[in-house]
Amino acid sequence: MTPLRPLCRLEEIPDGAARGFGPLFAIRRGEAVFVYVNACPHLGVSLDLIPDRFLDHRGTAIVCALHGALFRIEDGFCTQGPCWGDSLEPVSAEIDGAGTVMVPVDAGL
Ligand code: FES
Repeated sequence: MTPLRPLCRLEEIPDGAARGFGPLFAIRRGEAVFVYVNACPHLGVSLDLIPDRFLDHRGTAIVCALHGALFRIEDGFCTQGPCWGDSLEPVSAEIDGAGTVMVPVDAGL
């Protein structure tokens, strides 16, 4: 089993919002968190031209700022845009008993 490292505290991500953490970003939905590598499957660039701006204006999809591809928050599947059918690279994340979001030590490296 891959050892884990702390990414952040869950409370550092406002509910319904997203935040970048180096090569990764995380989206919070209540007590759930979804973590992905911050690289668009279209050209491999970072999704957020403006830091932490990972979601569309309604907060219901992940958006790539460069060409507007949309991805489902739950699984990173691209539903619209030039990389339709591709997916963001997911990172398995868990929240420990102290409210810390833990990810594999090698995630995003
Ligand atoms: S680089 Fe993301 S949609 Fe083109």
